[in-house]
Amino acid sequence: MAKEIGIGLIGAGFMGRAHSNAWDSVNQFFDLPRHAGMNILAGHHSEDLAAFARTWGWKQHTTDWHSLISDESVGIVDVATPNNFHREMAVAALQAGKSVVCEKPLAGTLEDARAMRDAARKAKRKGANAWVWFNYRRCPAVAFAHQLVKSGKLGRIYHVRAQYLQDWGGPETPLLWRFIGKEAGSGAHGDLNAHIIDMARFITGDEFSEVSGAIQETFITERTLPDGGGSAISGKGGARRKKTGRSTVDDCLLFLGRFKKGAVASFEATRLATGNQNANRIEINGEKGSIRFDFERMNELGWWDHTLEPGLRGWSRIMCTDGEAHPYVANYWPAAHLIGYEHCFTSMCSDMLRVAAGRKPVVPLPDFEDAYQTQRVLHAAVRSAKERAPIRMSQVK
Ligand SMILES: NC(=O)c1ccc[n+]([C@@H]2O[C@H](COP(=O)([O-])OP(=O)(O)OC[C@H]3O[C@@H](n4cnc5c(N)ncnc54)[C@H](O)[C@@H]3O)[C@@H](O)[C@H]2O)c1
Repeated sequence: MAKEIGIGLIGAGFMGRAHSNAWDSVNQFFDLPRHAGMNILAGHHSEDLAAFARTWGWKQHTTDWHSLISDESVGIVDVATPNNFHREMAVAALQAGKSVVCEKPLAGTLEDARAMRDAARKAKRKGANAWVWFNYRRCPAVAFAHQLVKSGKLGRIYHVRAQYLQDWGGPETPLLWRFIGKEAGSGAHGDLNAHIIDMARFITGDEFSEVSGAIQETFITERTLPDGGGSAISGKGGARRKKTGRSTVDDCLLFLGRFKKGAVASFEATRLATGNQNANRIEINGEKGSIRFDFERMNELGWWDHTLEPGLRGWSRIMCTDGEAHPYVANYWPAAHLIGYEHCFTSMCSDMLRVAAGRKPVVPLPDFEDAYQTQRVLHAAVRSAKERAPIRMSQVK
């Protein structure tokens, strides 16, 4: 087996940068049996791909993603493009015998997600892997919460309370692809609820049985057309045209859920929660204890030990930076030398390379089967909002 595995990245935007950094730094921070080779970058002809490739260390660049997929030097195709491209690119790569790691949500529609899941099943028989960038699983605090639940520390789970609140989607934000239904599939829902649905499934190890009570709203229906540039997610500060266009996605979507083992849950995703910039939060209450996490303080995990005598109970703030106890951190810095957003991507690259070498990931990697389950929940919530009715997961194939 070649020691180096060639990476081909499609997309040179926000995630293109995050993934480039991760593929580069994984070789330095982790001592792995296989290394990542940053072989080819594919992007849009409107972008300065030569400059991007130079900055981030890609050996070649192209505007033809098909040629990247067929290139012999590429073993893993990394899809970091808008959601409507995920199916075509990922399926083509899997059919070419490549492993794939695709951005979330798996797709804009359940139909596309199902086709991707089916392609991944076929490719798996030939040894290819298909993963999804649910990067928050690899925050050490989240991975540790998963381990705590698995070891029975929380006991029976009663409640899951998850929110993903951002505030960049106000009227000043232009009509980026994220607001166009045909390109994004949905708005805050697919973008943000996808993350917290995955996180809830990952930490509890449980699956949804029903979704109900969903409401969605589009507050800002008309936005100015962008003309390039501006900040990574929102395009703020970039050029604008005078013309406006219609937003065809939700700005927020809230729903309730039930899990198979009996827990009840609430989820809220919005781009208009002024004062909350990346508040990806989850609290889980069990019979023996509770955990809570907020990405804005990503190095910490809140822990409540309900087995203590009542007078001694209280929330502990666990600094998840102990290399002996907390996943991944031993590969970075000494205790309480904090890590950031980018490390979750690097840690995910390390687990993919570990699996490519026949080893187990530190905590489970989200694959297309897994992301398809999350997509079913997304779909059920949209149906619940439209039909104003509960949707049993058995109704969503
Ligand atoms: N995991 C996370 O936390 C996270 C965060 C942000 C975005 N995302 C996801 O990542 C994906 C990309 O989002 P982004 O924020 O990087 O968007 P972006 O707009 O910043 O970048 C998209 C990139 O795709 C390129 N592209 C579009 N069509 C292409 C084509 N046909 N061929 C080659 N390149 C093409 C664009 O030129 C651009 O470089 C989306 O699926 C999004 O939901 C995930």
